[in-house]
Amino acid sequence: MPTDPNAPHAKSWPLLPLFFSALVLPVVAAILVYQLDSFDAAPMPLHELTHPFDPPLLRNERILQGAELLGAGKFQGPEDFAYDSTSQVIYTGTADGWIKRVWLNGSAGETVVEDWVNTGGRPLGIALGLNNELIVADAYKGLLNVSRDGDVEVLADEAGGVKLKLTDGVDVAKDGTVYFTDASYKYSLHQFFLDIMEVAVSPLQDSVVFCETAMRRCRKYYIQGNKKGQVEKFIDNLPGLVDNIEYDEGHYWIGLPTENTGFWDLALRYPMVRKAAAVAERWMGRPRMEKNGGVLSVDVNGKPVAHYQDVGLSMVTIGIKIKNHLYLGSFMSPYIVRLDLDQHPAQRKS
Ligand SMILES: *[C@@H]1O[C@H](CO)[C@@H](O)[C@H](O)[C@H]1NC(C)=O
Ligand SMILES: *[C@@H]1O[C@H](CO)[C@@H](O)[C@H](O)[C@H]1NC(C)=O
Repeated sequence: MPTDPNAPHAKSWPLLPLFFSALVLPVVAAILVYQLDSFDAAPMPLHELTHPFDPPLLRNERILQGAELLGAGKFQGPEDFAYDSTSQVIYTGTADGWIKRVWLNGSAGETVVEDWVNTGGRPLGIALGLNNELIVADAYKGLLNVSRDGDVEVLADEAGGVKLKLTDGVDVAKDGTVYFTDASYKYSLHQFFLDIMEVAVSPLQDSVVFCETAMRRCRKYYIQGNKKGQVEKFIDNLPGLVDNIEYDEGHYWIGLPTENTGFWDLALRYPMVRKAAAVAERWMGRPRMEKNGGVLSVDVNGKPVAHYQDVGLSMVTIGIKIKNHLYLGSFMSPYIVRLDLDQHPAQRKS
């Protein structure tokens, strides 16, 4: 994640054609419910972004100064994490198709990284199922069930007769219902990177919080109770593009791949800017614009609590807290960032 322009992985990756092109084409996004109903989100209603962002009181803006880089060179973009506390394993999917197991049970915090199962696709979202299986949102293969023995079964590769093209975020409710998102009915990942929606089931199991990358916001979709079917604001005007959201012990953790820059606002508002950027990218390569990536923790009401970031981090897609450590994954990095929160906490700015 530190932005090193000479990093060898930066050029050779097939997934890089971006974030830019992400914005070139109209967005069609949907939350889909495995074996339930479906819900279509509206495309880019920018006028709805009316609530200002209330910055968190607690910040650590230089997390790389205290962080360790785990498994350097063993990952190609660990995009999302699922943590199994029984075996002390982090599961993560990478660009070469592997679901890797990161064993945290070693003494003195040693970690072992193991290539476990290869989906043959691009595993993105990953969540633990109720029967010890992993539910994986694979950009190319659809929604997968990976059993503890490593057998891969396709649960869904179409919805309502439409082929899934960029299955992305996933979470499993306590009743076993799988919520997942598919970013586009029209375009798949090798055509452009449009990482548009991510989901997390609320602790009360009454709603699903979903984040819309380019809109820089998360909303709450009620799945039970008298508000069932309604969509509400959760958090608006986030300080960067948004990626995965996870719930853990009282907080949602929201990955922010890059800070918000004037460019993104322009690009969202004016199609000409998106087009010019796409043309420039084709001829000159993609400029490195992402920086100040990190993760934001918010409470169950959507109020920001703490922001962890670094100017040298980009494309942070996931943050989770395990015991007293924060683990960050990225769509591009060759490692996992680990920060000891006792030693390097977010602090109140004086
Ligand atoms: C971690 O757990 C795995 C599976 O039980 C085991 O094979 C491995 O030896 C353990 N590692 C350590 C360092 O205890
Ligand atoms: C996934 O596969 C395992 C093993 O076949 C099965 O026990 C489990 O119920 C499956 N999970 C889902 C959500 O289909």
